[in-house]
Amino acid sequence: MDNPIIYLDNAATSFPKPEETYGFMDRFYRTHGVNPGRSGFDLCMETGHMVDETRALLTRFFNGTDPNRLVFSYNSTDSLNLALFGLLEAGDHAITTTIEHNAVLRPLFHLAGKGVAVDHVPFDGRGFVDPDAIKALIRPNTRVVALNHASNVIGTVQPAGEIGKICRERGIALVVDASQTAGKIPIDVQAMNIDVLCFTGHKSLMGPMGIGGMYVQEHVELRHTRAGGTGVRSAQRSHLDEYPWRMEYGTPNVLGIAGLNAGVKWLEQQGLHAIEAHEMRLTSMLVEGLRQTPGVTLYCQDSLDGHIAVVLLNVDGFEAGDTGTMLDVDHNIACRTGLHCAPIVHEQLGTDKIHGGVRFGIGPFNTEAHIEAALKGVREIAAARAVAR
Ligand SMILES: Cc1ncc(COP(=O)(O)O)c(C=O)c1O
Repeated sequence: MDNPIIYLDNAATSFPKPEETYGFMDRFYRTHGVNPGRSGFDLCMETGHMVDETRALLTRFFNGTDPNRLVFSYNSTDSLNLALFGLLEAGDHAITTTIEHNAVLRPLFHLAGKGVAVDHVPFDGRGFVDPDAIKALIRPNTRVVALNHASNVIGTVQPAGEIGKICRERGIALVVDASQTAGKIPIDVQAMNIDVLCFTGHKSLMGPMGIGGMYVQEHVELRHTRAGGTGVRSAQRSHLDEYPWRMEYGTPNVLGIAGLNAGVKWLEQQGLHAIEAHEMRLTSMLVEGLRQTPGVTLYCQDSLDGHIAVVLLNVDGFEAGDTGTMLDVDHNIACRTGLHCAPIVHEQLGTDKIHGGVRFGIGPFNTEAHIEAALKGVREIAAARAVAR
């Protein structure tokens, strides 16, 4: 492309993907695009081996213990629905936070309409949830704490390990939405006492859209909320209880699993810490530059400690969407504006009144030149606004 966009929307989906992801998907689907686990011919067995290898890769990646407890789904929304509907029923109590994405909020609002009591713990002025505030809300019938590991709006990483300890001591299931953190920062389901870890493949795990999954710890009992073909024990009338089939339904997304396989191998090759260091260096450069730009408001970015590479801002006097349009049309910069599917975050920040904010999401393939272009774009928009006043 002559004029490629400057892509700073990696919190929505990572783009581009590593060449390894594109290459392996293409090769694998051309040679092994058959239904795994359904038949006994060699190609089918080999396809099944790739699926199993990917379960094992991801289980190790999240420090799980049993690859069969790593189940594939469409994305984290799908996993969160399976987890929350599989754990909660009328009469139960769930605790969540105001930093959640609609992938957690909406299933819980739905369950609230069916007799589940739900509390929302607010985040503090720096964008963090206090584990003690969660502890204070626990009741005898609290079954689940559902937590967004890192905000897709302001980038703050929540103390999931501390919250996990509180939950484990009380026998409450901690369901973590790792959409923004899986593949960005290390996650250890055992050390952090995460009972169900929900992830999506198309963000920092460097896979394609349409593949995700969850790791379900061995002591967790998830009810079936769907049923269908599994390729094994077809005569059985009910859906299988054993994992991974218990939480998988119908033909899997083999192409997506192949992409996830290559994406995770690429991450392991690069090293999560090296990628994180690169992204946070660029984030720091962006935030420093924005702090020095008159007419820009940053949200919860006083320090980058406990943050991932996600930055929220507004240019004073403009609605978020207008700033985004100018960045796109005049500067060829792709970012995400609006409420970011996390309306309560914006309500708490007060940005709902100006239709949200402008979010930059930095990824492994961004460069200093991209950050300089973003800073130049925002500075020009802010300066033009100052003149217009
Ligand atoms: C924090 C968070 N949760 C959930 C989701 C939903 O991810 P998906 O659309 O892949 O299910 C996203 C995606 O933006 C997210 O950022």
